[in-house]
Amino acid sequence: MAFFFRFHKSIAFQRFSQALFVTLLLFVTHARADDGYRLWLKYDRLSKVQPILNHLQSITIPSDSPTMKVAAKELQTAIKGLTGKNLTIQKTANAGSILLKINPTEHVNAEGYHLSQSSKNLIISAKTETGLLYGTFALLREIQTLQPLEKLNVTSSPKVQYRLLNHWDNNNGTIERGYAGSTLWHWFDLPDVIDPRYHDYARANASIGINGTVLNNVNASARFLTPEYLKKVAALADVFRPYGIKVYLSVFFAAPKTLGGLKTSDPLDPEVKRWWAEKTKEIYTLIPDFGGYLVKANSEGEPGPQDYDRTHTDGARMLSEALAPYPQGIVMWRSFVYKADPNGDRFKAGYEEFKPLDGKFDSNVLVQVKNGPIDFQPREPFHPLFGAMPQTPLMMEFQLTQEYLGFATHLAYMAPLFKECLDSDTYAKGKGSTVAKVIDGSVHGYQKTGMAGVANTGSDRNWTGHPMGQANWYAFGRLAWDYTLSSEKIAEEWIRMTLTNDTKAVATIQNMLVNSRETLVNYMTPLGLHHIMGNNLHYGPNPWLAKNVRPDWTSVYYHKADENGIGFDRTESGSKALHLYAPEVQKQWDAASCPPEYLLWFHHVPWTHPMPSGRILWDELCHRYYAGVAGVTRMQQQWEGVKNQIDPEIFENVKGKLSIQHREALWWRDACVLYFQTLSKRPIPEGLEKPTRTLEEVKQLVDVYQIR
Ligand code: GCU
Repeated sequence: MAFFFRFHKSIAFQRFSQALFVTLLLFVTHARADDGYRLWLKYDRLSKVQPILNHLQSITIPSDSPTMKVAAKELQTAIKGLTGKNLTIQKTANAGSILLKINPTEHVNAEGYHLSQSSKNLIISAKTETGLLYGTFALLREIQTLQPLEKLNVTSSPKVQYRLLNHWDNNNGTIERGYAGSTLWHWFDLPDVIDPRYHDYARANASIGINGTVLNNVNASARFLTPEYLKKVAALADVFRPYGIKVYLSVFFAAPKTLGGLKTSDPLDPEVKRWWAEKTKEIYTLIPDFGGYLVKANSEGEPGPQDYDRTHTDGARMLSEALAPYPQGIVMWRSFVYKADPNGDRFKAGYEEFKPLDGKFDSNVLVQVKNGPIDFQPREPFHPLFGAMPQTPLMMEFQLTQEYLGFATHLAYMAPLFKECLDSDTYAKGKGSTVAKVIDGSVHGYQKTGMAGVANTGSDRNWTGHPMGQANWYAFGRLAWDYTLSSEKIAEEWIRMTLTNDTKAVATIQNMLVNSRETLVNYMTPLGLHHIMGNNLHYGPNPWLAKNVRPDWTSVYYHKADENGIGFDRTESGSKALHLYAPEVQKQWDAASCPPEYLLWFHHVPWTHPMPSGRILWDELCHRYYAGVAGVTRMQQQWEGVKNQIDPEIFENVKGKLSIQHREALWWRDACVLYFQTLSKRPIPEGLEKPTRTLEEVKQLVDVYQIR
């Protein structure tokens, strides 16, 4: 005892206790530090474990196939993490099991699943093993998001067939419009070295129902078709196969010439056709379940059939014929084409080229259409091709990488953007012919259906650069599976699985996410403004950009602001692009009824144009820009409010990024308000603080971005 008192008072003890404190602190911080790598598949211990989970002892799988093995392993790891229980993997069911069983009579499609429970078992049933894998992840989602399991009864089938990520990755490791590091694919190491990350990539995708991945950039290199690279592609296909994921390649149209040494790449030339048939055969020998080809042709300098006076249909047929012997192979031919025409309207280009080709493609071809007519702007009206090609399956192309939405530094949850497009009514076959129902085949009876998302992933430890960017990957997968899910529900799932299950914090972050896209629209391109961003880099404001190599790569081409007013007249008196839509849609966006959100997409209006808010257009424009900045301030406050519920590393990361976003929202606001003011010649409305810098000062900021 005497020794204890002596020791207690000693310097040695003080040092010891200080060291202990520091060690404990380090341990606690370390235990909580989260670098985001695990995405939404975190499986940290639940604070309360439901009784049925406590009774679990085993996982019962119907076979030892690679797919069943990955499903069982996922369940084992997850249940261990979530509850602390070690489950054995077996083939014969007993009580207290997660039971995976094939049931050919289940009311689901080939990839769907049914989750249920009976006394002490949790049951996943499906028609196929892939369905069981999707059911596995769905069950885990139920557990992770704290859904009650006693009455578990969930049935779900995907609404579209091809649910694909499009990677714009180059063989030199860079990613076109990628903001989260370099490519995930280590081309130099493959096929010998298999990065464990490939498995985690596949797990993440399978967990949200993504069943295909286009590995390389649409601005494609023919190198991916060389025997050397095909072996690398095959190695990735081997990793992804158990997860129900097929690989696809973007192809360089001129490959027969550049790679094959032929004199031409003319799609009607028999030698060229033979070259593609042989190349395709070579691919299928290495990858028996190869998914097919994605093609960007005659667009932005890429070669294509028009180089030989042939049509897009001729080009697509060359590839669809090469793929014909392989029933699972498809061609995804992109409609993103536009010619540099100073007097034209880029809005109409894709429609004008592709509409006349309706019904002329082979049955294994889908035309892949971007969600809007220009290019992944923060808000676009839906592409007029949706609903206009009844005899050609159209697939959706969304962009998850935030090319025009602040890269990986701005928080912009894009489910509301995706939903806005999917829920838009094309009126192709009367009311209710939404874009979603066009692409899922219900409107026109398409035999093939698909949705693609341009990936926002990269080599960054947290995959997407911005921790919240993961929510866009997650949301894309969930909506490709089931577009009827709400943005709110998807956000809640993702937050609970990734950030916190604390009810109040979930509600706060959900609110941040669902409002973030409108906030971004407000500080970048309110009221239907579009394409006024920095030249080439597509970052920051540049509304004064008037000269470029092509007129439709300037800003003034799109906003057409002058002393009288602002906006692109696409009505009868202007480019007539509005006429590309069904009469009901035209009416909805015509002068009398156009909602403010789309106004400057379709109309050139005076600065004094009266707005529904009671303000004149100029004042409304200013108010929107200011509201955008205020929206970011609000996000910052909301984030501070959840500090104690969030892992410190993620908290600090998002906090820092929100501060960049705030600075840049101000940059956008000041640039646009000050520039447009030179034309409107009107004061900043009462009650709004004047920018503290001049237009010239703001322009300097943009110039810095142009310096090489
Ligand atoms: C945009 C983007 C390009 C991309 C192109 C495409 O124009 O800026 O980088 O290649 O879209 O979708 O093909």
